[in-house]
Amino acid sequence: MPQQVLVTGGAGYIGSHVCKALAEQGVTPVCYDTLEKGHRWAVRWGPLERGDIGDGERLDEVFARHRPRAIIHLAGYIEVGESVREPERYLHNNSTKTAALIDAALRHAVEAFVFSSTCAVYGVPQSALLAETHRIAPLSPYAESKARVEVALGGAAARGLRAASLRYFNAAGADPGGCIGEAHAPETHLLPLAVDAALGLAPPLTLLGTDYPTEDGSCVRDFIHVGDLADAHVRALQWLRGQSADGRHEAFNLGSGSGYSVRQAIAETARIARRPVPHQVGPRRAGDSPRLVGDIAKAGRELGWRPTRDLSQQIEDTLRWRRTMPR
Ligand SMILES: NC(=O)c1ccc[n+]([C@@H]2O[C@H](COP(=O)([O-])OP(=O)(O)OC[C@H]3O[C@@H](n4cnc5c(N)ncnc54)[C@H](O)[C@@H]3O)[C@@H](O)[C@H]2O)c1
Repeated sequence: MPQQVLVTGGAGYIGSHVCKALAEQGVTPVCYDTLEKGHRWAVRWGPLERGDIGDGERLDEVFARHRPRAIIHLAGYIEVGESVREPERYLHNNSTKTAALIDAALRHAVEAFVFSSTCAVYGVPQSALLAETHRIAPLSPYAESKARVEVALGGAAARGLRAASLRYFNAAGADPGGCIGEAHAPETHLLPLAVDAALGLAPPLTLLGTDYPTEDGSCVRDFIHVGDLADAHVRALQWLRGQSADGRHEAFNLGSGSGYSVRQAIAETARIARRPVPHQVGPRRAGDSPRLVGDIAKAGRELGWRPTRDLSQQIEDTLRWRRTMPR
């Protein structure tokens, strides 16, 4: 493994768990983040370098100071609904600025580049389980911004970069140690919203659409523990370093392989919290796919990766975290 890895978005939810997983392997994560959405308290396992992924000069300074041999790129805006309202802002921050980061990666000859992509690139599923070979048909500017980066990484691979796009399904849970977890503002993700509603820390949850072509009419999602996601990044780095040096780009699904409807996830949250989850029914949110469940065979085969913590454990960790997190 390289001694230093640049982790963009390392002060965010998933990035902070990735930094912890790297540190556990003896690697120093250099967190590169604007802190626009991230938290200083979440940077605990290596130095923080404030900077924007679109700022090539700042990236050069950070490369000169820390000499990272690899990049894990998680920085970006993440809200599907907001991206529908502000498409240009999303495409600029997530795609255009990533082009500057990819240029820096090529300039500094990094050995591996791991990118946070999303299952949302698949759009409306054409099969029950989505494999990496499924067509790419984004429904939102957010998903489009990720698909564009994947295309750019394909181009960079032809110029010698070794890259992997990790298509996450729904990240959930928190570090079992309790010092980091999900803290978005505003929070738009189901499990923290359901847990907060159950604990009386937030208003009733709004269920976004109950007329989808699914068994109970709510969207079906595949929830994956953030600790399992973090582990996959470490494995992807190791895998890339074992690939030939003439460049390559591969995509991997990271999910649990099982789908739960929003209604099922709410019921499971109520069972584990031993309290009802107050909720109301609202309209669909633009840009949402009815069902997103991953075929995760490729990550198992190539990266030797398996999810280890199921939905119940994700909810338990979320409950513990939401009771104590800084607000
Ligand atoms: N959370 C999920 O379920 C999920 C699912 C699929 C993909 N992803 C992707 O994973 C990544 C991390 O998601 P998260 O939930 O941890 O989000 P997050 O908002 O907690 O973290 C993102 C971080 O990126 C930083 N950032 C944003 N724009 C930046 C820029 N231009 N330069 C430098 N830093 C910048 C923010 O300050 C923040 O700390 C994102 O790219 C997201 O699209 C997340």
